[in-house]
Amino acid sequence: MLEIADLHVRYATAEAVRGVSLGAEPGRVTLVLGANGAGKTSTLRAAAGLVPVHAGHVRLEGRDITRRAPHKVVRDGMVLVPEGRRVFAPLTVEENLVLGGYTASRDRSRQVLARVYEMFPILRERRGGPAGLLSGGEQQMLAFGRALMSSPRVILLDEPSMGLAPTMVESVLGAVRDMADAGIAVLLVEQNADMGMEVADSVVAMARGEVVFAGAAAEARSNASVLRAFLGEAALVG
Ligand SMILES: Nc1ncnc2c1ncn2[C@@H]1O[C@H](COP(=O)(O)OP(=O)(O)OP(=O)(O)O)[C@@H](O)[C@H]1O
Ligand SMILES: [Mg+2]
Repeated sequence: MLEIADLHVRYATAEAVRGVSLGAEPGRVTLVLGANGAGKTSTLRAAAGLVPVHAGHVRLEGRDITRRAPHKVVRDGMVLVPEGRRVFAPLTVEENLVLGGYTASRDRSRQVLARVYEMFPILRERRGGPAGLLSGGEQQMLAFGRALMSSPRVILLDEPSMGLAPTMVESVLGAVRDMADAGIAVLLVEQNADMGMEVADSVVAMARGEVVFAGAAAEARSNASVLRAFLGEAALVG
């Protein structure tokens, strides 16, 4: 379980995150919504040790991991899938996956690889081909698969549906739900609020570096007008 408490992130020119508290629980998808510049990415990156935490705490399964080095955070069981997928295009699909399992032994890595292929059969089909030839949606599945190779208990996803065709968005978000149903705690940053809410258990909305709404997804859905007021019209289509 992930617990972010009163987190502050500062860059040279601005305070991007100002006292954010939120969490993620096993088997559940927590959706983080917010307009451009709200501080969503900064929150995820600070939790993963990729940008400095100015103040506040990050706890993973009760242990304080605030300011831990990123590779140690991975070893502790939490992994971030950054925006933009970033697969290694010339390497094969399988080589990309094996890179994600660098923290595990060879045997363990084989076992986890088999599970990732069960979850994403398309990756097994394409395992010998270059990752660069996968479609955008398939590359996102590969980015998920690579993250799963470290056997995370918490996974942080930064806008996985970005730039994908609507049908692909649906299958990517379906995969997000599958990861939670496999028992992982998922923190999902998603621009497509309506589609995100379909797979989410709870919703946190951020504006200008602060949490402005937190509640069950059902409540957020019925409160769409409240969210719209916080996030602006563009955040909710339909
Ligand atoms: N490396 C950086 N240096 C300076 N300022 C930054 C840096 N990264 C982000 N910021 C600023 O911090 C604020 C929050 O940015 P952040 O990327 O966390 O927002 P976001 O909610 O992820 O936005 P988006 O929806 O555009 O991805 C913004 O004002 C942004 O310009
Ligand atoms: Mg962002």
